[in-house]
This record gives sequence, C-alpha cells and structure tokens, in this order.
Amino acid sequence: MNKNYIIPNEWSIIEDGFDAENVEASESLFSIGNGSMGQRANFEEDYSGKTFQGSYIGGIYYPDKTRVGWWKNGYPEYFAKVLNALNWIGIHIQINQTNFDLNTCEISNFKRELNMKGGWLSRSFNAVLPSGEEIEVATKRFISVKYNETGAIQYSIKAVNFSGEITFSPYLDAGIENEDSNYNEYFWETIQIIEGENQGCILSKTLKTEFHVGTSMRVSFAMDNQEVQPRQEIAIQEKSLTYFYKLSVLKGETATIYKYGSYVSSLNYKNEELIDAAINNVSKAKEIGFETLLKEQIKSWNEIWHTADIVIDGDVKAQQGIRFNIFQLNQTYMGTDARLNIGPKGFTGEKYGGSTYWDTEAYCIPFYMATKDASVAKNLLLYRYNQLGKAIENAEKLGFKNGAALYPMVTMNGEECHNEWEITFEEIHRNGAMVYGIYNYVNFTQDFEYIAKNGLEVMIAIARFWHQRANYSAAKDQYVILGVTGPNEYENNINNNFYTNYLAKWCIEYTVECLNKVKHEFVEDFERIVEKTNLTAEETYKWLEVADNMYFPFDEEKNVFLQQDGFLDKEIIPVAQLPKSERPINQKWSWDRILRSCYIKQADVLQGMFLFENKFSPEEIERHFDFYEPITVHESSLSPCIHSILASSIDRIPKAYEQYLRTARLDLDDYNHEVHEGCHITSMAGTWMAVVQGFGGMRVWEDGILNFNPQIPKEWKSYSFTINFRGTIIKVYKSQKDCKFFNESEKEISLFVNNKKISIPSNKLVTV
Ligand code: BGC
Repeated sequence: MNKNYIIPNEWSIIEDGFDAENVEASESLFSIGNGSMGQRANFEEDYSGKTFQGSYIGGIYYPDKTRVGWWKNGYPEYFAKVLNALNWIGIHIQINQTNFDLNTCEISNFKRELNMKGGWLSRSFNAVLPSGEEIEVATKRFISVKYNETGAIQYSIKAVNFSGEITFSPYLDAGIENEDSNYNEYFWETIQIIEGENQGCILSKTLKTEFHVGTSMRVSFAMDNQEVQPRQEIAIQEKSLTYFYKLSVLKGETATIYKYGSYVSSLNYKNEELIDAAINNVSKAKEIGFETLLKEQIKSWNEIWHTADIVIDGDVKAQQGIRFNIFQLNQTYMGTDARLNIGPKGFTGEKYGGSTYWDTEAYCIPFYMATKDASVAKNLLLYRYNQLGKAIENAEKLGFKNGAALYPMVTMNGEECHNEWEITFEEIHRNGAMVYGIYNYVNFTQDFEYIAKNGLEVMIAIARFWHQRANYSAAKDQYVILGVTGPNEYENNINNNFYTNYLAKWCIEYTVECLNKVKHEFVEDFERIVEKTNLTAEETYKWLEVADNMYFPFDEEKNVFLQQDGFLDKEIIPVAQLPKSERPINQKWSWDRILRSCYIKQADVLQGMFLFENKFSPEEIERHFDFYEPITVHESSLSPCIHSILASSIDRIPKAYEQYLRTARLDLDDYNHEVHEGCHITSMAGTWMAVVQGFGGMRVWEDGILNFNPQIPKEWKSYSFTINFRGTIIKVYKSQKDCKFFNESEKEISLFVNNKKISIPSNKLVTV
C-alpha cells in the first residue's frame, strides 16, 4: 500500500495519478456524507479491480447473529451492522459497444479531489479503452446537506479520438452485501421495482429489522452543455433496474449524464409513502438542477465552516489534516436527529458496525458542543436518555435490580450488540462516560434544566448500577470493583481499574449533588423523578457509603495510582526499547503475551486525569504522565489525542505536538495501514480537542467559566479556532508573538486567559 500519496492542500484532499493499489484507501478518504447518509468514494463506472463498495443510511441496520464458538449466558445475541445500502451511483458505460472498465484502460492525468470547503468530490482523467478509443472524463458528485435524502452526480465524457456512440446505463442495484456479514447472509429483500421515464425506484426492506427503504434515481443528459433527451430502454432484473441511453458523439464533443439519487426510509415515512417520497426527491433535484444544487451545497458548507474551522498557518499538511477531521465529523453527524449517533467509522466503512460506542460521550460531544448550536449535543444526550429502558434491561439480563442501568458498549437501539465477549463486555467504564457527557454539556451550556428533565433519570440508574456492581472487601475494609476491563483493552478481567473505580465514585457523588439541586430548584421534576424511580434518601446514603469508601490501587514508593491491582508485578520495559519489528504488538504478538505485558493500548489512568484534570495537581498529572506514557503503545486511535492534551496541560508542547501529529493525519497518512477499511471518525474529535483543549487550553469546569491558556508548537506560525459558546461566536488566534480574541456577537463576554479575567465587547478584537 502506497502511503503519503495525498497531495498537501489547505482545503482539498487530492490524489494525483492513478494507482490501483490506492483505490480502496481512496474510497475511504474521499468518502462523502451529510450526517444522515454517506458513501465511500466508489467509482460510478464499472471497475473490475479491487474495491470496497459502501453506501450507508444512518439508523438502518441489521442484527447479525453473533458468531462465537462457546455460548455463555449474557452474550449479546447479535452484532448490529449498519447496512451497505442499495447502489444508486452506478452508471455502466459503453464506448462504441466496448464496456468501459477503468481497470482495463490505460489511464493518464488522473486527478481526484475532495473539496472540503464546498463539500463535493470530483475526478478527471483520460482513458484509452482496449479497443483504442480515448475518452476524457470529468465527474462531480455530492450528497446534499440541504436536501438530506438526496445526492447528485455530473458525469461527462469527451470523445478525444473518435466519433461514434456512447451508451450510458444508469442503474439502481439492490443486490448489495456487507463484507463483514458473520454468516454470509444477504440482508435486503427487494419488494418492488418501479420504472418510469428517466426515473425509477426500488423499494426494499431489511430482513429481521424490517426497515423499508426507497431508493430512487432520475437522469438527464446534455451534449456540449445543451440538454438532450436520448431514447430510453429499460431492463428490470430481480434486484436491479437499468436504463440504457445511446448518444452519438463527434470527435471533440462532450456527452454528459446527470444522475440524482435519493434514499428515504421508514424511519421518516410510512411504508406506503416511500416510493412517492423517493421519486419526489429526485424529480425536485432535477428541477433545481445540478449547478444550483451545487451552489446550495457550497453555501451549506460555508455555514458549517464559519463556526467550525481551525486555521493553521505555516504547515499545509497540518492544515489539511485538521480540516479533514472537521469535515469528516460533520459528514458523519449533523445533530438534527436524536435517533442517530456517531459510528467510529462514520459512513466510510463497515468496521465497528456503524454502532454507537462510549466514543460519543468521551470524545465527540466536546466538538459538536463547541462548533454547533447546543441542541446538537443535547440530541446526543437524548439519544441515551431515549435508550434508558434498554440500558435497564441490559443490566437486568446480567442480574442487576431496582432500575440499575448498564449502557451498552456497542449499540444501535439501546441493546448491547458487540461481537467480542471478554474485551468489550467487561468495559463497564462506559457507564461513567454517559454521566460525564451530561456533566460536560451542562458545564458548557449551563443548561441545568436538561438534568432536571432528562439527565437525572439516567444518572440515578447508573448510580444504582455502581452501587450494586461494587462490593465490600472485608480484607481492605473498602469497596472494590472486580472483573472489569478498563479503556486499556490489553488487560482483561482485572480488579480495581483506577479509571473505572474513580468514575464510579464520581458518578455517585455527582448524581447526589444534582439530586439536591433539582430538589430545590426543580421541585416538580424532583417529585416526578422520585415517584418514577422509587428513590429514597436511604438509598442515596447507601450509594454514598460506596463512593466515600472506594478503593484505589496506589503505590507509595512511586507515588502513582496503579492502573489496577497488581500492575507493578509486571515487567516494566519502556516501549522505546521494543524493536520496531515487533510493533504494533497487536499484529506481532500473541494475545497471551500482550495480556501479561505492561503495554497499554490507550490512555487509561491518564484518561481519568484528562476527564477530571481539575481534581489533580499539575505535579500529580506530570508524575502519572511520566509513568504511563512511556509504556503506552497508542494502538487505539483514541490514545494520542488524550496524551497530546495532557502534555499541553503540563507545558510539554514538543511532546504534545509529537502526539498531535499521530492523530491529525492518522488516516491521510494511513499510520495504521488500515485506512482502506474506513476512516477513524471518533478519534477525529480527539484531534479537534488536541488543538482547542490542548494547545488552546480551553476549559469549562463546574463554575461554568470559560478559560483559555493558549500555547503554540514552534512548527506553526499561528493557529486560530472558532467556538460557539452559549450562542456567542468567539475566535481565538495565537501566533508565536500574539494572542487575540474576537467576539463575533452582539453581547460582551467575559472569560479567563492564563488565569486573568478579560472582557471582550461585542464585535471587538482584544489582544492579550
Ligand atoms: C478502542 C475503544 C473504542 C473502539 C471504537 C477500540 O479500539 O479501544 O476504546 O471504543 O475502538 O472506537
């Protein structure tokens, strides 16, 4: 696999020259989406080389039966898969009756661009077919942000050295499979195929989950930019609908097909409305026209960038990297629908099943909260609130009682649905992230009402879980939490994971604190909640007994909290002493060797210090950083960002920068040799945090006050970012010499910079 083939550019991802080896990686990197749906950058024309087809609709999944050798009680019954949906982008092409397959052509001048500023994807190239005809191809495609069920393609072919016939055969294909199917099952059933003049639709449903989806297409044509209407022929097969249009071209002429496609699903329509809705979407798109749709698309993305952009001056690759991350995060989730969430691979691949992980609360909420309206982060919280019943069921299945909730590690609808038993199942720390997400949101937005209306019920159920999950150890005369896996998945079934115990204690304390506040400030809600949950004061005293007496493994000599009981029995050898040939250890070592080694996959104790930095002194953070970072292999994409932020907080900017580089271009430079499977979307939110919270030092703790402590790596001339703080747009600029704040709003704002209070009048720039 070729690495580093992406051409540095501030606003675009560019591939120059065709290399079949890069096709699958580029399909991931050039993916497009609009938060509701998305697709890999598969070619429209036929391609018989290696490719990974992918087009996904948010919320449309299949419960694939879990594949395990030895079933145990409590196993999740299925692993949810976001479905590879029907293909609406495809266009078979024939040039003088020869099939145009890019894999069999001589290709020159190949250029692919993902324009992040405007949210569109283009390709241009010359191809000589085996039969000798040379064509010049130019394509443009986007998934509309404004009309979020619709996408559009412009596909032009110029006859370079021949006069003759070009046949465009646009099609809809329902014969689509998932590569990651556990039992090679087919997940879709075709219900109806509807043909029409220049437009058509396939109505299908997913097996088991019975989501109904209408997929439609509408086409139009132009010769040298003049609209033409060639004669249409139709072929309907069991799972596909294809139209054929023949256009005569003279040498030098350009034939263009416009293809509009749409997905509509039973998430938003009644089943019987789907065909009309799908057809309406594409007819409307055709009426608006490709150029106008594109203009609207550029406008939508301009608005997104206005409150989300990060500008880095003096380092084009860093600039491209951070914009790519911000772009992909927006393509994955726009925040308008509380039924959707952020899959670790977004709409760029099948891995992780497109499901929701703790990644959302631990990594993604800060990005969406600070770059969008508060309703977006609130929708992410409501997603979990709406799944509380299922989280209580999950806990009941495992033997917990009295309304205790265990949120799933992996989910689509609230049910636990992971594929890997030991690792994922024991990661009960995710329950703490649910509460942390609420805490983070409330500090940032000051929307405490959310806790009274929704959050508190989630928090009570989680406090109940921790109370029951911890047990009293007579030997220690303290409470312990046994048999868990921390964020570091290279240790399983351990006792007293510092991170988990810390979160458990904190969750209980924070819940009780919020209960008291709701009791006094939202009396009606308090009464409603107490009645609904049967909560008594006595019960909360029992929770507090556990929280007050929680055990934390600690080593006096090293003066550090230990990741878990017995951690120091391990042979501690820094990662730097491992031969390069043995890295990454998850590919080179046996699982047995990994489990007993000291190597940490991702921040664990340090993840706790990141979340609760205000509860630890800088010296404590430094000491723990120095102990744990050297034995961390960062083999989760979620690891370097946390280390980068902590390094910034202890004024180690070179180290912070080193870790930042590992996260910012993880996919563009394919550090993990796996970008062909899809991009690491949730870690992209960590990259954003590494700039805003790391270098920019942005914090909002319980007092609700906004703080900054901007620092800058020596490699950058300057950087700036924008945040939406409670409706006030603030731009922060930091160069090697200056630090400036611009208040782009109608009201004055006060904030702290390097611990000093400053006020910025409306629409004014203040230099600090
Ligand atoms: C990480 C988990 C994460 C998951 C999905 C794993 O490799 O260890 O913490 O939730 O990926 O991103």
